[in-house]
Amino acid sequence: MGDRFSIEALLPEDYLDHQLRSDVRAGLTGRPKSVQPKWFYDAAGSRLFERITRLPEYYPTRAEREILTARSGEIAAATGAASLIELGSGSSEKTRILLEALEPDVYIPVDVSRTALEDAAAGLVRAHPDLTVHAVVGDFQHELKLPRSPGPRLLAFLGGTIGNLTPGRRERFLAGLPGLLEPGDSLLVGTDLVKDERTLVAAYDDAQGVTAAFNKNMLRVLNRRLGADFDPERFSHVARWDARREWIEMRLRSDGAQSVRIASLDLEVRFDDGEDLLTETSTKFRREGVAAELERAGFALRRWWTDEAGRFAVSLAELS
Ligand code: SAH
Ligand code: AVI
Repeated sequence: MGDRFSIEALLPEDYLDHQLRSDVRAGLTGRPKSVQPKWFYDAAGSRLFERITRLPEYYPTRAEREILTARSGEIAAATGAASLIELGSGSSEKTRILLEALEPDVYIPVDVSRTALEDAAAGLVRAHPDLTVHAVVGDFQHELKLPRSPGPRLLAFLGGTIGNLTPGRRERFLAGLPGLLEPGDSLLVGTDLVKDERTLVAAYDDAQGVTAAFNKNMLRVLNRRLGADFDPERFSHVARWDARREWIEMRLRSDGAQSVRIASLDLEVRFDDGEDLLTETSTKFRREGVAAELERAGFALRRWWTDEAGRFAVSLAELS
């Protein structure tokens, strides 16, 4: 790939390990027990997520792709972006639509998953001979520092991943974004929308069981990275809609009472029969809520596009 691709860890080698340990200790000793969804994405988790995006029940990826295909010309014209920065870029698959329209000089994908960044890079560099790809292994929830890049910049956060941050975390995250940008830069955010419960639950509990495997993979991540002895077969996948908070919750429910040892935390965790471990919330939004959250963080919502069926939205905002 020559010198057009580089990958950089902006954090010390052991930073993410340290973060994983402290998150897991806090999450498994708290009530209800929880683990943050960012730890789903080891190599297997990233690949399982890619399978989810192709499931018949999982509409968000197709809906967002429809919007980007229809609107990428407008996005390019409105932003004139010379750099595209993307948080939680994963496979960068839908990003190709933006790259074709924007033709930026620099693309900065940021992800906690080094393998996702590496898997995405080869195809990107091949498809865009004039593009410099500066991939960053980093955690967008923690003091993200980005490499310098030419302006104007477009900061993209696609897929609805913003919905995986709980409200307090989301507010802190959004409040940090203006510090990464300069006047004239723009923000592009994908958000899944509130809809009927049946469609939502099916998207997170598919017939083939891929989402269940993705959810249980969290336990394999903890086994491998923290020397834990979870038996994924003794937990069941649960997806439920919380109508009050307007989010989907994914949980792992203990089949029987059991104890799990997490060797590298020197921690023994007891699960009652039927006790849940919360692994993900996926908030579904409405236009007023998105506009208000962006405004609180110092952004003005300039465009709001949905797919034909009104399932998903992409918002374009600028610093106000
Ligand atoms: N944007 C892609 C991928 C979405 S999956 C799409 O729309 O299809 C969510 C991605 O965000 C994963 O690749 C995961 O590794 C990454 N991610 C989750 N939490 C993160 C965090 N705190 N910091 C950086 N990346 C994160
Ligand atoms: C990455 N994120 C937006 C996905 C979502 O829909 O919340 C993760 C996911 N979890 C289960 N299926 C997909």
